[in-house]
Amino acid sequence: MDIRNLKQQAEVELVRVTSDSQLEQFRVKYFGRQGEISKLLKQIPNLNKSDRGKFGEEVNKLKADLEAALGRQVVKLQKATASHEPVDLTVKTDSHRGSLHPVTRAIDQITDIFSRIGFNRVTYPEVDWDWYSFESLNMPKGHPARDEWETFFVDYPEHSKLGKLVLTPHTSNGQVREMQRLKKPPMRMINIARCYRRQQDVTHTFMFHQFEGLVIDKDINLGHLKGTFEYFAKEFYGPDTKIRFRPFHFQFTEPSMEVDFSCVHCKGKGCKFCKAGWHEVGGSGMVHPNVLRAGGIDPDKYTGYAFGWGVERTLSLRPDVQIDDIRRFYDNDIRFLKQF
Ligand code: PHE
Repeated sequence: MDIRNLKQQAEVELVRVTSDSQLEQFRVKYFGRQGEISKLLKQIPNLNKSDRGKFGEEVNKLKADLEAALGRQVVKLQKATASHEPVDLTVKTDSHRGSLHPVTRAIDQITDIFSRIGFNRVTYPEVDWDWYSFESLNMPKGHPARDEWETFFVDYPEHSKLGKLVLTPHTSNGQVREMQRLKKPPMRMINIARCYRRQQDVTHTFMFHQFEGLVIDKDINLGHLKGTFEYFAKEFYGPDTKIRFRPFHFQFTEPSMEVDFSCVHCKGKGCKFCKAGWHEVGGSGMVHPNVLRAGGIDPDKYTGYAFGWGVERTLSLRPDVQIDDIRRFYDNDIRFLKQF
């Protein structure tokens, strides 16, 4: 291509340059080491001696012209980005005051309720070893009970003692960690954290939150567990709320119970929101002696109770929360979040 055509082509391209990255591309294409101007200069040794001087001059002029044009384009771009439309502060808009996410608010409230009765809020790793998530909880490798936890495994080298790395499928990984941290009872932990399971539908999201309670001391019994739930239920759902236990099985508690709350809509009579007047919310039980041992605590001296429930589920049962699908909490849809 001759010098005149090249100049025209460059000028046409330059007008179309509207961003910094395009500017850079342009610079490289024409002024770069392998750029068009270098290519022209490299031709000089192949020319007749008599033509070299004139050709060199022309290339230098082209270079100067393109540099000037590039400079003008840079100034033009700077002006364009600096001149915003004027802002009219008097225009009325449909403004909505921001607020904390409902799940964040629920976590704060749950922390507050339990701290009033002496629980200590802690957090433990959300990516943790298999040993803390399963094995120390009386679920040896290959135990069928593990299937319920629909676990995500992390692609990371295995630890020789603690096994694989997992995205914690429940907050129970904090149990033995808390025993190891405090070493000696009394312990009153409330551990609230993100959990992850391979399930997603109207009542499940891949990521959700649990709050896990653990109390260990001398002579702790089921009565303490029941009293704690009654207190929580009244504080969180209102003074008329009742609780009940249903027998269940977990490897890490013995006995194990599921906890139900009476329905806030029908007060336990039965309605479209509940199962015959009740809502299932989570698991609980007396800490299994093997779990105490894994945490270095003597089960002949101390006993404890534990519970673990989903924050989103617990929140969704409140009468002031209108939610038809638990995934809405994480849709980032302002029309839904506005209600909070
Ligand atoms: N970790 C159990 C779950 O995720 C709940 C639980 C916690 C049960 C503590 C008993 C004691 O379902």
